[in-house]
Amino acid sequence: MFADIKQTTVQGADIFNLDAIIGDLIAYVDSHFRTEEELMMASKYPDRRHHIYEHKTMKAHVNGYLIRYNSELESKLEIAIDINDFIKSWLINHISIEDIKLSEHLNNNNPGRKNI
Ligand SMILES: [Fe+2]
Repeated sequence: MFADIKQTTVQGADIFNLDAIIGDLIAYVDSHFRTEEELMMASKYPDRRHHIYEHKTMKAHVNGYLIRYNSELESKLEIAIDINDFIKSWLINHISIEDIKLSEHLNNNNPGRKNI
């Protein structure tokens, strides 16, 4: 999925699948965040309120892309570039910090679990 978005952004003209990409992103975010949040609750992760707040903020961004797409008020390329920037920010600011902290917590509290 991330490769699709990058290609969409780079090529510019190939944005016919942007609505499908946004739909996939929404589904992925919903599923991935739900799994993490269930693990946080089950393990009583101490920083879960902050982590879940970040998830809610990112979900709002992702849902906003579909609203922007459907409004037809701006170019698909502009939305695709914003999605690309969102994913970069998600990787740098959330996955590499918050998800790593959660993963360490889960590993320390349940050594036999599989990684998320
Ligand atoms: Fe997370």
